[in-house]
Amino acid sequence: ELTDIRALLLSRIRDVADYPEPGVMFKDITPLLADPSAFTALTDALAEIVERTGATKVVGLEARGFILGAPVAVRAGVGFIPVRKAGKLPGATLSQAYDLEYGSAEIEVHAEDLTEVDRVLVVDDVLATGGTAEASLELIRRAGAEVAGLAVLMELAFLNGRTRLEPALAGAPLEAL
Ligand code: PRP
Repeated sequence: ELTDIRALLLSRIRDVADYPEPGVMFKDITPLLADPSAFTALTDALAEIVERTGATKVVGLEARGFILGAPVAVRAGVGFIPVRKAGKLPGATLSQAYDLEYGSAEIEVHAEDLTEVDRVLVVDDVLATGGTAEASLELIRRAGAEVAGLAVLMELAFLNGRTRLEPALAGAPLEAL
């Protein structure tokens, strides 16, 4: 059954060559989002990971992690916490800077949204270099919360994000559908 779901999901992801720059093959999930049976299957599969890992909150990573993470949180009956790019959250935040190929970026979470009682599953569409996910795991730990795991639709395995994330995951599962 998981094989069927994988085939369905894969068939709804569009490869776009040379976007956003030459040499990059962009993975476009908008066909999947537009197909209710595929989007529902994805939501159900991710919600099952929330239940299996005992997560009590879902963190979604801006921007596509919001689209996937929010229905998963509702389906699993847990809260949804947005991790945003710096400067978008109005309250007191925790920030985490991380390196990009050229330059750096910063993500933030509302400090009051994550505490010692929380067990958090991070949801995103793509794991590439792992820089974004690594910074989010760092934020969760700094907030005092526990990392239940990381769940992504796609893992670009040739970029070795999984290896990079081993220390930050500290034994928590990385699930790539
Ligand atoms: C993409 C993707 C992940 C991240 C993966 O987001 O949705 O969040 O990059 O890359 P990494 O593993 O190398 O960190 P992007 O930064 O394009 O943000 P967007 O969804 O707001 O466009």
